[in-house]
Amino acid sequence: MWDEAALAALLGMDGVETLLAVTDERRALGFLMARAVCDEAELLTLAVEPEARRRGVARALVAGLAARLAAGGVRRLFLEVASRNDAARRLYEAAGFQPCGMRRRYYADGDDALVLALDLRMVRS
Ligand SMILES: CC(C)(COP(=O)(O)OP(=O)(O)OC[C@H]1O[C@@H](n2cnc3c(N)ncnc32)[C@H](O)[C@@H]1OP(=O)(O)O)[C@@H](O)C(=O)NCCC(=O)NCCS
Repeated sequence: MWDEAALAALLGMDGVETLLAVTDERRALGFLMARAVCDEAELLTLAVEPEARRRGVARALVAGLAARLAAGGVRRLFLEVASRNDAARRLYEAAGFQPCGMRRRYYADGDDALVLALDLRMVRS
């Protein structure tokens, strides 16, 4: 879980990408943050405002991130997702992520974390 201080610290770190989705009136709808190290990156956090969900905001953010990372020579994008988070799991599956590991009872509520990876070498940048 990321609190305000942790997110603010991330903003200043080398290799951190932040994408924000906004309306024409510049109201925030959703955002993501990822960190790249050499030719790998990790999607650290992604969230869309509840009233803006199911309109393709997260899909566009993930596609935008994948294109930016691929253009910068990053080859694989990893993430962790709670096994009970059906919405996020379906989003990532539709985006082409493949399962590559599991961390049992990783979250405070006892849920497992699934580790997923996206091969960015086929992504058009
Ligand atoms: C997960 C989350 C980011 C999805 O954002 P979103 O903007 O609503 O997602 P999109 O509209 O881009 O959905 C893209 C696809 O993901 C899947 N999906 C998204 N939300 C879904 C839901 N509630 N149930 C089932 N599938 C869902 C669908 O395949 C969807 O395509 P479709 O609408 O054409 O069927 C959003 O629900 C959220 O912020 N959740 C809380 C934070 C969170 O769980 N973040 C992920 C941490 S790993």
